[in-house]
Amino acid sequence: MSLLFEGRVVLVTGAGGGLGRDYALAFAARGASVVVNDLGVDTAGGGRSSAAADKVVQEIRAKGGKAVANYDSVEDGEKLIQTALDSFGRIDIVVNNAGILRDRSFPRTSDLDWDLIHRIHLRGSFMVTRAAWNHMRKQKFGRIIMTASAAGIYGNFGQANYSSAKLGLLGLANSLAVEGQKHNIHCNTIAPVAGSRLTETVMPPDLVASLKPEYVSPLVVWLCHEQCQENGGLFEVGAGWIAKLRWERTQGSIVRQKNKPMTPEAVRDQWDKICDFTNSVKPSNVQESMGFVINVLSRVEDGEAGANLTAAPTSAASESKMNPTVAMEHKMPPGVFTYDHVQCILYALGVGMSTKDPDHLRFLYEGHPDFSCLPTFGVIPAHLAVMGGELISIPGIDLDYTQVLHGEQYLELYKPLPTSGTLTTERSVVDVLDKGSGAVLIFEGKTYSGDELVCYNQFTVFVVGAGGFGGKRNSDKAKAPLPPPKRAPDAVVIESTTRDQAALYRLSGDWNPLHIDPSFAAMGTFKVPILHGLCSFGFAARHVLKHYANNDPSRFKAIKVRFAKPVLPGQSLQTEMWKEGNRIHVQCKVKETGDVALSGAYVDLHPASEASPEVLHKVPQGGGLQSELVFAEIGRRIKDLGSELVKKVNGVFSWEITKDGEKAAQWTIDLKNGSGSLHKGPYSGKVDLTFTVSDEDFMDVVTGKLMPQKAFFSGKLKAKGNIMLSQKLEVILKDHAKL
Ligand code: NAI
Repeated sequence: MSLLFEGRVVLVTGAGGGLGRDYALAFAARGASVVVNDLGVDTAGGGRSSAAADKVVQEIRAKGGKAVANYDSVEDGEKLIQTALDSFGRIDIVVNNAGILRDRSFPRTSDLDWDLIHRIHLRGSFMVTRAAWNHMRKQKFGRIIMTASAAGIYGNFGQANYSSAKLGLLGLANSLAVEGQKHNIHCNTIAPVAGSRLTETVMPPDLVASLKPEYVSPLVVWLCHEQCQENGGLFEVGAGWIAKLRWERTQGSIVRQKNKPMTPEAVRDQWDKICDFTNSVKPSNVQESMGFVINVLSRVEDGEAGANLTAAPTSAASESKMNPTVAMEHKMPPGVFTYDHVQCILYALGVGMSTKDPDHLRFLYEGHPDFSCLPTFGVIPAHLAVMGGELISIPGIDLDYTQVLHGEQYLELYKPLPTSGTLTTERSVVDVLDKGSGAVLIFEGKTYSGDELVCYNQFTVFVVGAGGFGGKRNSDKAKAPLPPPKRAPDAVVIESTTRDQAALYRLSGDWNPLHIDPSFAAMGTFKVPILHGLCSFGFAARHVLKHYANNDPSRFKAIKVRFAKPVLPGQSLQTEMWKEGNRIHVQCKVKETGDVALSGAYVDLHPASEASPEVLHKVPQGGGLQSELVFAEIGRRIKDLGSELVKKVNGVFSWEITKDGEKAAQWTIDLKNGSGSLHKGPYSGKVDLTFTVSDEDFMDVVTGKLMPQKAFFSGKLKAKGNIMLSQKLEVILKDHAKL
């Protein structure tokens, strides 16, 4: 049966546009007589015009509905109700909707900014509702809507005046619900989200267009119908979604002991318990709340300090529907990911690589001879497969996406990632843990290229409020984060993210609007869209790769991080590193705030000599080359005298040794960075001078049989780069003539 309003008189305040207009049209379409109130002001409350209300009245009448206009301010509540009485003889429903904005950061909020907002929203709703109240009481029917806002419920930057008035309306509604109940006057509160002139300055245009007021008005219409018995409810509504909110209270802790003063120290010592939402309760009226407090008085007398307060039957435990066994048995179809160099490059840019650093070119230019995929790209195919929308459809897992936090990530590579191809990821739930207030889900993804296992990902996801299902707390399958050693870091790299870092990173496939859409972020607890945790993860990983592995992806073995705090695009990341053998412990801070963003992190590297056989294979290291001995000796000398040589030489030299006209080995002597180093095989760092020479000619040079200049002019020795540096190199080579 349709919900009709024949014979009912409805006042909608601020109905000349936005949400109010839609409510007015909806009520009129269902037979109500509507007073369309609007002062016709601008969004800040300035100006005045009758045009807005008139237009909506005309619209309603054109469709055969009944409506009159009223142009008074809601502050003159009596006049609005009088219009209803004069025109239609009664008032049944009041929708308090009129509103303005005067957003300012708190210290800049003037008296007028504060007063106007409170006058229009809170006092206006009071004036209008009070004028209607006795009429409703007499007729034993009334339905009232208050319009609050997420800004009031959760707080929002620059809206102290508005938030306080909006949450004031909830307090007003709560009391009216109590007072009105016995007279069949119901008062409910909505916190809507819709595109309107109020939101067009904070939302992108297509969001304004898509979040239609008609996705809010059906809730208002239902709450105002005589069939609806809801009273004192608070609802978030928008985009076609409606949810009810309520208060949640921890079990708390009694911190006072009989005949002893209550101390702040006792509060401190019980803090965790005071704030622990395990087995929380949901008091729904003041009697329940007060009754509990009064009960505490006698419990203190009974000596129950620190006692566990009894859980209410509505605890989280009775509500969670997690079933680890069912979830872990569920077979998910594999996720397929096809990509080419474009995705690799886009990802590298997304995690902050730039052509400013010549070392980065091998990850940014598909024509580079060593073009490679960043190792942490390995999370992308698995992320798409594991964290996609399918989680909610796994049997045994009961989650609300808005409550899901990506807690930790582990990635292990078994071979360097190809720069193009099709990867298939097999996904499964490894464990579901019960952490009391929340649940922890551990998913894994095994990613294959053909039959070959390329990488393994483990995602740890925290679901707020989903605990208490009686599961185990820990898992032996979890890859645990590790604290860094207790000493100052061995190396620190600081690098800024850009303002558009998240906008760029999301193009690699994480489309969560939390990272781009200010209004979506504001609906969460974030002032602005935040950077993807996996983007900071990519930054940290490449800092390690550059610092400890010369950007050689074949050295990368595994990485583990815990996402501790969000990073905002534009902030700088400070990656602190501790080398412990082949494990590099990592902590990543936001430089501006000192907050730890990635904690318990580490990167495992393959030892330099064990670089992936695949890479070594590209440049045959041809056993039996005489030059091998010379380079081995150079390596030893660098170990002994590295710092001194770096001071003297200050250059990076690469040697391409040929045998029978073919490239047979490559060596790079770095006498520029740190205390010098020798590298065998492909080198991705910046080289100042590259020599190409045959094994035999090389030996002739080092043994003094062939003068380097002569070798150069005769074409036996080719040199590319900063030739002047070759003079310095002679210092080392000459020593080897003694070999
Ligand atoms: P809107 O600006 O389109 O509509 C508000 C209307 O109220 C305007 O037509 C304005 O002329 C009228 N008005 C302002 N002061 C008045 C007064 N003193 N007397 C009579 N009318 C007056 O804005 P929108 O978005 O439709 O907002 C409607 C309500 O919903 C407001 O209370 C707003 O705070 C609330 N809200 C809206 C959200 C959204 O996403 N659009 C989010 C949260 C709350």
